[in-house]
Amino acid sequence: MIIAIDGTAASGKGTLGRTLAMRLGLDHLDTGQLYRAVGLAVKQADLDLETACDDALKALVEGLDLSQNFGPELRSSEIGELASKVAAIPQVRTSLLEKQRDFAQQPPHGKGAVLDGRDIGSVVLPDADAKFFIDAAADIRATRRHLELKARGEDIDFSEVLSDIIKRDCRDKNRTVAPLIAASDAFFIDSSDKNAEEVLAICLDHLDSEHEPQAANGL
Ligand code: DC
Repeated sequence: MIIAIDGTAASGKGTLGRTLAMRLGLDHLDTGQLYRAVGLAVKQADLDLETACDDALKALVEGLDLSQNFGPELRSSEIGELASKVAAIPQVRTSLLEKQRDFAQQPPHGKGAVLDGRDIGSVVLPDADAKFFIDAAADIRATRRHLELKARGEDIDFSEVLSDIIKRDCRDKNRTVAPLIAASDAFFIDSSDKNAEEVLAICLDHLDSEHEPQAANGL
């Protein structure tokens, strides 16, 4: 069983990916963390993305131990912004593509996988068994992200979080390689007025209805 979840920043796709995987006994990969890890490595290496050559970026991504614990900085707004910038670089996407597909094909516990990100249903796993696309109004997503960042000790204004989210969505949707897009066969959920449990319940219902055994003809 392979499930693809895509969506905008702070739409709830990470929480959905984690809870859905737990409920179904599948492994979960938050692919945004991979791009964040590259963003963090770019910062630590003091690489200038405007001038860095493709080979330097490729070496940086391929030399990265993605299984390490990157610490709380990975979830900061600065690294989120850097992740969105590195994610627009074709070389970076190509280097991460196989790692994501390998995880889906050989999940650690062997039962199946849930991957969440921006291009999972459209590019990484176009043949996934189920696809979801999740979105919510920008001000609601900014409120959620603002609370998350404050809980992590980041001192940041709501207006800054909102403008970062809008800017990030715009960059993610308009880049030339693998932009944020709903796959044509994805099931769409607007999480604006729903909490995490409600979103999870909608997904489970959808999966049940899709995988219900068909009644035999004539019965
Ligand atoms: O989901 P997130 O906020 O952790 O993602 C950080 C950035 O990584 C996001 O702005 C775009 C990029 N990303 C991507 O381009 N493709 C993915 N599959 C996942 C994330």
